[in-house]
Amino acid sequence: MKLNEIGQLLHGGDYNVDQWLDRPDILQEDIRFMKKAGVNVVSLCIFSWSSLEPEEGIYTFEWLDKVMDSMYENGIYVILATPSAGKPPWLIKKYPDIMRTNEHRQRLLYGERENHCNSNEIFREKVRQIDEKLAERYAHHPALILWHISNEMYGICHCEKCQGNFRKWLKEKYQSIEALNYQYWSRFWSHRYTDWEELESPSPIGETAVHGLALDYKRFYSDRSIDFLQMEIDAVKKYNPEIPVTTNFFHFNCGINYWKLAEKLDVISYDRYPHWHSGADQSTEWEIGLESAFAYDYCRSMQNKPFLLMESSPSSTNWMPVAKLKRPGIHMLGSMEAIACGADSVQYFQWRQSRGAYEKFHGAVLSHNGSEHTRVFRDVEQVGKRLANLGHIKNTETKAQIAIIFDWDNLRGLEEQKSLRNINRDFEKVIMEHYEALVQNYVSVDIIAQTADYSRYEIVIAPMLYMFLPDTAEKIRSFVKGGGIFVMTYYSGLVNENDLAFEGFPPFSLNDVFGVKSEETDSLEDTDCNSFIWQKKEYQIRRYCDLVQLHGAEVLASYEQDFYAGMPVLTKHTTGLGTAYYMAARGEVEFLRDFYAKIIKDAGVEKIIESEYIRDVMVKERHDKGTKYIFLMNFSKNMSEIGGERLSGYEVKIEEKCFDNTALGFQ
Ligand code: GAL
Repeated sequence: MKLNEIGQLLHGGDYNVDQWLDRPDILQEDIRFMKKAGVNVVSLCIFSWSSLEPEEGIYTFEWLDKVMDSMYENGIYVILATPSAGKPPWLIKKYPDIMRTNEHRQRLLYGERENHCNSNEIFREKVRQIDEKLAERYAHHPALILWHISNEMYGICHCEKCQGNFRKWLKEKYQSIEALNYQYWSRFWSHRYTDWEELESPSPIGETAVHGLALDYKRFYSDRSIDFLQMEIDAVKKYNPEIPVTTNFFHFNCGINYWKLAEKLDVISYDRYPHWHSGADQSTEWEIGLESAFAYDYCRSMQNKPFLLMESSPSSTNWMPVAKLKRPGIHMLGSMEAIACGADSVQYFQWRQSRGAYEKFHGAVLSHNGSEHTRVFRDVEQVGKRLANLGHIKNTETKAQIAIIFDWDNLRGLEEQKSLRNINRDFEKVIMEHYEALVQNYVSVDIIAQTADYSRYEIVIAPMLYMFLPDTAEKIRSFVKGGGIFVMTYYSGLVNENDLAFEGFPPFSLNDVFGVKSEETDSLEDTDCNSFIWQKKEYQIRRYCDLVQLHGAEVLASYEQDFYAGMPVLTKHTTGLGTAYYMAARGEVEFLRDFYAKIIKDAGVEKIIESEYIRDVMVKERHDKGTKYIFLMNFSKNMSEIGGERLSGYEVKIEEKCFDNTALGFQ
């Protein structure tokens, strides 16, 4: 069966059955429980290398044959992982160079997982061999629907081999050492290079001050990781190119440019462990839910189609500072939230709890008590039942008319630079504030890279787009000229792709489009505050204030305090058919909510639901040509009401409405 032809949402999770190879009864018992819980998919072999190849070149697939066949016979699909994330000890004993070298130039000892060097040729070969063995045997197995490459790839190596590859990468990029010196501005502190061999990856005991170099090493290593993944994809696809591939994403700042990685994958999958109930006040569940929604919207936007929720905890997450249980109702709410934002699955880490080692007390559908008569099992069963009734939602889309730029290169560049505030720079919080304000307006939002195609959207928002990649300024200009609405904030358009400051006033080459020139940026202390009045309402400002000169823009609001009182804080400028807004300061979420409400209305963007903002209620939508599926989700434990619908604490309701959305691109 092909993944996209399955007419059900997927429900299941990581099944590390090789931890019970001496207990054949466990497999039979698990299948019975899986059916009861409405499980229709398992992920196998994620960390099974030592069970598949206990000694070098000796393969033991018989146990896996049995598991794959049993799953198929019982109507359960299999996602099969390549085992490269966890290495057997024999491998490192024989080839210790496979282990990563850290930034202090120390090679790691055997242990943990996902800590190999991506340049190591022996490792690449060993992984290719086992991947091919798996593919040769199972690529046509009827239970197999998807390859799961490795697990949560991340991290950086600094070994000699990687240094050599980095120099090659630099030569290809800059062609000449003079070009590199110019972009790195390396006469500063006399760091001018005369030979490629002088270049070394950044280190706390070496170079940290050349920001272009630091950024390039991150890019280089992200490319190395993607190259490693490609090698694994080629190995499994060799035996059946029809089986799609994924790798499970986790932190967006894990060191790999997910936008580039996404291009190699047939489907995006993502692991999410929300820190539910981590605060005392009532709105906490809303904040936690919002972070998840952002991440899910990001996953959906990457390929502009549904993704898979590959892992989530059915109960507590043992590595969190406080491993709190999910309160009643939260498991359903969190699972449906993923579906609402575009997931076609709810999968867990893990099906059965390990008995020993690091994750023995991590939440699982079946815990050590081995019983289905538990609260967690019942919660999972309920989610299974609900998903079983939502098969028609699988493969449906969300076509947002608004996008926020959250860009990997920009994020990496902001991390390096020294200015503004060097503690709590808050870039990701700023992004979340804009996102929250849009969610509170009940519109769909995509999260995009600066390299994306803006023409699909009515409104594009760029919070703190400090770094402009080569085409960005021109793309913004033509988007606005063509009729788009672009919102840009303080501290945007300051440096090029190598973190080299542009000459002239920010935002680089767009002063005419925005009608402003940013002259300086003031960073405020935590106790400082400024304010402004917009449409007769006063709003607070924290942390960032650009001081801008006017060059044609209309002033919508001005600073109330400090030596820049009276200077513009919010401007509007019409260029061609579109409008460019410049937000000079970091106004509070309430301001962003009010501001976006106005421009959403002006632009005629369709809202998911016509409602005033209701605290703690999130609304998301998916649609196909003729139907809109509206998810109303209450993140408060108290009763709420929206659009005439009453929602009890943590309740999720799904409404289906007829809807003609040819205008959104459906044929
Ligand atoms: C994920 C990982 C899983 C498991 C889980 C525990 O990051 O992919 O293998 O360790 O965390 O929360």
